Amino acid sequence: METEISMITLGAGLLLLLLFVVLLQGSKSTVQKYIYQFFLGSSSQAIPGPTGYFLIGNMLELTHDHLPIHLTSLARGFGNIYRLKCGNTTMVVLNSSDVIKEALIKKWSDFAGRPMSYTGDIVSGGGCNISLGDYTERWRAHRSLVHGALRRCCHQSLHNVIETQALNLRKVLMDYHGRAVDLSEDFTVAASNVITTLAFGKEYDKSSSELQQLHSCLNEIVALWGSSWISALDTFPLLRKLPNPVFSRLLREVAKRDEIITNHINNYKLQDQQNKEVITASLLQGLKHQSTEHEKLLTDVHVHMATVDLLIGGTETTAAWLNWTVAFLLHRPEVQTRVYEEMCTVLEGRYPSYSDRHRLPVLSALISEMLRLRPVAPLAVPHRAIRDSSIAGYFIPKNTVIIPNLFGAHHDPEVWQDPYSFKPERFLEGGGGSSRTVAKMELFLFTAYLLRDFQFVLPENESCLPDLRGVASVVLKVKAYNVVARPRPDHT
Ligand code: HEM
Repeated sequence: METEISMITLGAGLLLLLLFVVLLQGSKSTVQKYIYQFFLGSSSQAIPGPTGYFLIGNMLELTHDHLPIHLTSLARGFGNIYRLKCGNTTMVVLNSSDVIKEALIKKWSDFAGRPMSYTGDIVSGGGCNISLGDYTERWRAHRSLVHGALRRCCHQSLHNVIETQALNLRKVLMDYHGRAVDLSEDFTVAASNVITTLAFGKEYDKSSSELQQLHSCLNEIVALWGSSWISALDTFPLLRKLPNPVFSRLLREVAKRDEIITNHINNYKLQDQQNKEVITASLLQGLKHQSTEHEKLLTDVHVHMATVDLLIGGTETTAAWLNWTVAFLLHRPEVQTRVYEEMCTVLEGRYPSYSDRHRLPVLSALISEMLRLRPVAPLAVPHRAIRDSSIAGYFIPKNTVIIPNLFGAHHDPEVWQDPYSFKPERFLEGGGGSSRTVAKMELFLFTAYLLRDFQFVLPENESCLPDLRGVASVVLKVKAYNVVARPRPDHT
């Protein structure tokens, strides 16, 4: 009897072992899904989601004019994790901070990939940038090169560079002499000058044709790449054979962008007195010091595409954020007064530095509330499962595309009371520190300098406050509006 039991136990043990071996082999069969569910406690239910149409699946869901709001409204019906099918691609949309953290922090290595995309490859020099490149040894080396360069250059000069640009912006605003203007271009120039100074040691005037060319083509690329004419090429490869004027325009803008960046890098290389503190110097230096034991992973293309990453990542995001902040302050002028009074008391007339942020809780709360209410990268950057995994107990097969809906998570009624209202006060109770990053320091210093020296008011002849719904593409922007930047009497 005892022998019989131990034979059964041994048999069962072997069976379990066999099942684990099948699991580890990474076979794509349904069996694997069930094994995962059995051992990892994953739910046997399929991920919920809207019913799709023949061939196109749920593609129409992605054509809504304000995608983050639409995806958030779907979450109210299907829950904080749901799936959309587009052609052969399955996307899983994550709408709460719990599921986003589970995927991108706890299980980051399962979801470290980026979607494979024909059009993404075209805008990213064949996947050679860090925002769209897939998770490979080369990508890791590239990311560490860029982050290292940022750390080195920012450690020495970030504060000064931002201060200089904030004071330039002050001068531009003073020169309007209280005229009603749309400030969006001035914000773009200020944010862009921070990046170009850090990258090449170069800053531009608003009227510079070089700057205008650069921004018009970067903006065009982001806008065209987000359009359905282009994303359809990823879903239906057959369409690539047909003429597509939008795609031809995209190719022309990419060529223009590459010419501008190549000129910059070549000019830098040809300088007699090279500034060794700029990011380009650090990136080129990093290329030279690659280990010779392995094949050299990174080339000039990676330096080129890192510059594109920083320019795209660092300009429109910061500029859009400043535009949102002024728009919301026009709606609640008393918040502006509180921030100003706090600075008057704490700073006693001097300009703030980043280390003052803990002594300026009202200003910090304003920044946090703006980041919550209008995340300027509302759907972040899509990720891809590089192996089978699970989120919230659901089985997620390899190659599933993951969309972190930050807009949805920031409006989650389970976490935020009255989530659609602009209430910086909500952050005053919680407190909370912030880490030293380019973006956070820029947002803090630009906002502090602007609100110390100016009161933003609605023009007298303007009857409507700015529209706060926004226009959503890769970056979430406020619709253009005019504002008067009235100098504060004691800081002229
Ligand atoms: C309001 C300001 C900003 C916001 C809200 C923002 C948001 C984001 C988000 C959500 C991602 C995607 C992360 C992921 O899921 O992989 C990202 C990536 C990135 N951002 Fe920003 N960003 C801002 C400013 C900046 C600035 C100033 C820079 C330039 C120094 C920058 C450079 C980048 C780069 C290079 C990436 C690629 C991802 C990586 O390093 O892994 N961003 N940003």
